[in-house]
Amino acid sequence: ASGVARGADGQLEVQGIPVSALQERFGTPLYVLDEDDFRARARAFKQAYGAAFADLCGGVDVYYAGKAFLSIEVARWVTEEGLRLDTSSGGELAVARRAGVPAANLGLHGNNKSVAELETALQMGLGRIIVDSLDELERLGAVATRLGRTANVMLRLTPGVHAHTHEFIATAHEDQKFGLSMAEGDTVPGAGGTAEGGSPAAVAVTRALRHPGINLLGLHCHIGSQIFEPEGFALAAERLLAFLAGVRDTHGVELPELDLGGGYGIAYTEQDTPREPAELAAAMAAVVRSACARLGLAVPRISIEPGRAIVGPTTFTLYEAGVRKTVAVDTETGTVERRYVAVDGGMSDNARPVLYDADYTAVLASRVTDAEPIVSRVVGKHCESGDIVVRDVYLPEDVAAGDLIAVPATGAYCWALASNYNYLGRPAVVAVRNGQARLIIRRETEEDLLARDMGA
Ligand code: LLP
Repeated sequence: ASGVARGADGQLEVQGIPVSALQERFGTPLYVLDEDDFRARARAFKQAYGAAFADLCGGVDVYYAGKAFLSIEVARWVTEEGLRLDTSSGGELAVARRAGVPAANLGLHGNNKSVAELETALQMGLGRIIVDSLDELERLGAVATRLGRTANVMLRLTPGVHAHTHEFIATAHEDQKFGLSMAEGDTVPGAGGTAEGGSPAAVAVTRALRHPGINLLGLHCHIGSQIFEPEGFALAAERLLAFLAGVRDTHGVELPELDLGGGYGIAYTEQDTPREPAELAAAMAAVVRSACARLGLAVPRISIEPGRAIVGPTTFTLYEAGVRKTVAVDTETGTVERRYVAVDGGMSDNARPVLYDADYTAVLASRVTDAEPIVSRVVGKHCESGDIVVRDVYLPEDVAAGDLIAVPATGAYCWALASNYNYLGRPAVVAVRNGQARLIIRRETEEDLLARDMGA
C-alpha cells in the first residue's frame, strides 16, 4: 500500500504507525488495510474510466466487487467515493443494506440465487439483478409477478473469452457454470431453442423483453480474474456489442447498458506487472468506439466491476514468527537448504496459495538486519503440509520467534475466503486513515468459536 514505509528504527510503518504498535493493540495475525489507499484506488478507477469514456457515453459506473472484501465500513467508503457496489449473495446484500448503500447503487450476482434472495432484491428495489441462466430468468420473472414489482435485469453472457491468469484464450463455447452461452450450437433444454431463435443468450433476450415483470437493461460479461492485458476485455466487448446489434436487428431495441465485469490484475510479487487503470480504460474505450461506429450502435452506458484491483494492494497481513527448521532439499543442480519459518496464521487467513498455487512475498517487518538473506518458506500453523503462505522468499538468516513478518497484497480474497480450520479464530481487520488505526472487524474469540455449538 502507498502508506507503508520503513521508520527510523527500521520497523515497517503504516502512515507512521509502527507494526509493533499494531501488534500490541490488535494482536496477530492481523489484516492491516490502508483506507486512504483504498479510497485512492477506488477514485482512480472512477476517474480513469470516466475520462476515457467521457465523450462516448453518459459515463461509466464502477461497481466495487464486494466479494473481494466487504464490511459495513468498506461499503460506506465505496459509496462515499462515488462507486456502486456489486454483491453476490443475500449476506453481502445485508452488509450493503446495513451500511445504508442506496438500493439503486446495488447489483446482485450469483449463478444460483435463491427465491428469498431474489425477493429481497426486488423488495429493496435493487438497481440491477444480473441474471445468469434461463432457469433464473423464469424464477425471477415469477417472483416479480408475485410481488407486483419490476426487476431491473442485466443478462450475463459468456462471450467465449476465458482469461486464464495472465493470458486469455478464446473458445467457441465455454464449458463452465456461469452465464448464458452466445453459441448457436448450445441447446436450450426443454424450451426448443431453435424454435425460439438461437442461442441461450438470444432466447433469454426474447423472453426478458416479453416479460412484463422484467426491465431488460443490458448485457454483462466477466471473463476472469487477475488479468493484465486489455485484449481479453476488448474481445469480449466486441462480441457483446455485436450481440447488441443483433438484438437491435431482431427486436428493434437498443439495450442501454453494457457491463464488462472485473478481473484487473495486481502485483503480488515483483514478477507481476499490472497496467494502470488509465491504460486499460483507454484500450477498452477505443474498442467500444470503433465497434459501435462499425455496427451503427449508440454507445451504451458502460459499467465495470473491479474487486481485487481496488482492495488487494491496500492490505498486508501481519504475522508473528514462531518455530523454524532447516532441511536439505535435493534439486537437479545439487542439494540446497531450505529454511522453514512458521507463523501464527496460515491457510485459514490466506487460502489462495493452497487453492490457486498463488504466489506472495514476505518481509521481516519488525526490524532491519545485516544478516544474510536465505531461501525461506513461510508456513502456517495448520495441520496440513500444504499450509504454505509464501513458497520461496529470501528472509534474513536471523529471523527468529517473536519477529513480525508482513505479507503484502492480501486485501482481496483473503479475509473473504478465511475459515476457522483447526478452530482458529479469524483475524481482525484494522483500517488506517489519517495516521489513525481502528478496528473495522474484530478478531474472533474463543467465545465466537463455540457460540453456535449446541453442545456448549
Ligand atoms: N464481477 C464478477 C461477476 C465476478 O465474478 C468477479 C470475481 C468480479 C466481478 C471481481 O473480479 P476481480 O476484479 O476481483 O478480479 N477467489 C479468486 C478470485 C475469484 C473471482 C470471482 N469473481 C482469487 O482469489 O483469485
